[in-house]
Amino acid sequence: MAEQHVIDAIMRVMEAAFDPVYGEAWTRSQLLGALVLPDTRYVLIDEDGNLVPGNFDRIAGFALLRRVLDEEELLLIAVRPESRARGLGGRLIERAVETAADLGCSKIFLEMRDDNPARHLYHAHGFRPVGIRRDYYSGRDGKRRNAITFMRAINHL
Ligand SMILES: CC(C)(COP(=O)(O)OP(=O)(O)OC[C@H]1O[C@@H](n2cnc3c(N)ncnc32)[C@H](O)[C@@H]1OP(=O)(O)O)[C@@H](O)C(=O)NCCC(=O)NCCS
Repeated sequence: MAEQHVIDAIMRVMEAAFDPVYGEAWTRSQLLGALVLPDTRYVLIDEDGNLVPGNFDRIAGFALLRRVLDEEELLLIAVRPESRARGLGGRLIERAVETAADLGCSKIFLEMRDDNPARHLYHAHGFRPVGIRRDYYSGRDGKRRNAITFMRAINHL
């Protein structure tokens, strides 16, 4: 289970990064519920792009991951607005893929609201769309939005 200061750091990014209109952000209790599961883990990055930062006040982004057998799921990824477009999101993805490979995973999946501009980032990092879930997200604006499932195969050397 993650320590309190890690949960606090993730929640600070969560609250800053997700537009509440879309209903994608997790609550603290959802996060705690996920992190008690044995195969759920996180990657953190600080403002300077360090992946194992020591100072939890300077966390700029996180990725949350869950492994089921040999498949990894990227549950959430977020970077604070003021730290975006500097490659931090990409570094989180690549670290997520590396650690999934180390755990013996053959594929990594993620689900994304179909109008999220993050699709360009996922494409750039080798993810391709493999499925659609209709009306998966319900936003505060009353609209329901589809989720697109993306997948990247993990090659083992
Ligand atoms: C998606 C996210 C993590 C990307 O973080 P980042 O640190 O900016 O990522 P990088 O700097 O590595 O890559 C940025 C690329 O992502 C794409 N991108 C992601 N979000 C974008 C946005 N809102 N507007 C424009 N481009 C965006 C662009 O292709 C951009 O490439 P560019 O810099 O060459 O233009 C960040 O935008 C975020 O936290 N978004 C809100 C939360 C979210 O929607 N998460 C994904 C669903 S779980």
